Amino acid sequence: MNLADQPVAILGTGSYLPAKALSNDELSTIVDTSDEWITSRTGIKNRHIAAEGEHTSHLATHAAKKALEQAGITADQLGLIIVATITPDTLTPATACYVQNNLGAPQAVAFDISAACSGFLYSMKIAENMIQTGAVDYALIIGAEKLSSFINWKDRTTCVLFGDGAGAAVLGASIEGTGRILATDIGTDGKQTHLLNIPGGGSAHPTTEENVNQHLASLSMQGKEVFKHAVTRMKNSANTVIARAGLEPSDIKLVIPHQANLRIIDAIADRLTIDNKKVFVNLDRYGNTSAAAVAIALDEAHRQEKFERGDKIVLVVFGAGMTWASAAIEW
Ligand code: UT7
Repeated sequence: MNLADQPVAILGTGSYLPAKALSNDELSTIVDTSDEWITSRTGIKNRHIAAEGEHTSHLATHAAKKALEQAGITADQLGLIIVATITPDTLTPATACYVQNNLGAPQAVAFDISAACSGFLYSMKIAENMIQTGAVDYALIIGAEKLSSFINWKDRTTCVLFGDGAGAAVLGASIEGTGRILATDIGTDGKQTHLLNIPGGGSAHPTTEENVNQHLASLSMQGKEVFKHAVTRMKNSANTVIARAGLEPSDIKLVIPHQANLRIIDAIADRLTIDNKKVFVNLDRYGNTSAAAVAIALDEAHRQEKFERGDKIVLVVFGAGMTWASAAIEW
């Protein structure tokens, strides 16, 4: 059988959260904040923080092993590994190279992509296309972040929002017709780079003592502006894939959105006219894990059997860039 003739499907998912949890109450002993403020403004109650010496590639590897196991694929069958991250182990080589070595996947070409919180669905699109063209049979896509290393822990406007974690999926031809990707949408608006960024550590602001002291290597965000863009872009993108898949909002069993803020998620559900009971939320436990967020949520929803064979689900994300993406999947 020619695998390239088959629709592309998600064959397995996995996720990993580091052991240490950090609650809102614990955070309020570090910065001037409160459980009441964080919960009412964001819905976040808790986040996980990687241990010292536990790098993004380690989180990614744990998630990947679970996805491979569920897919029934061994690492040496992989032709492609993409790690979506804004918190790589090193600027170079790519985090995906460490993961390739950790997994023992010598046949896989491995690289990172930087599309912030949208990276996992950008990776899905790239992997889908490479499988469809016959370039690879099996692809591993991972969203993995150790944001705790890029947070200014004295800045209450950002440090309460983010957490560490990883989620993964194995993609291949849909031989049994399950997990099929029906439609995708990806987009970028480079006019908004200033709204959400980590300005330092690159060629614009190299790692000098002065730049580090000014916290330029920490995440910086204009929250209110990002909020507005997030609602509009995610609503439009989700509507686009629903229409491209020939579906109506009422056909969707579950929406799995980027996990940044419960108010954003509720606003999107409202605008999509989808009951918010059909929207998966886990940001209360993990905060915003950027590229990992939708991947972790997909894995949890899958393992909790929130959808079954034949159900249509929509993934929708938004992040720095600005970037956005969606996928409609028939499970
Ligand atoms: O993953 C990429 C996508 N990211 C997002 O989608 C994030 C989008 N933005 C948001 O989720 C929200 O804008 C935030 C949660 C970041 C902020 O919520 P907000 O309702 O927009 O609050 P704000 O920034 O307008 O701040 C309101 C007040 C300010 O005080 P004043 O000026 O009214 O006196 C802040 O200083 O809340 C204050 N504040 C805090 N107070 C207690 C800001 N952070 C905190 C805090 N604890 N942690």
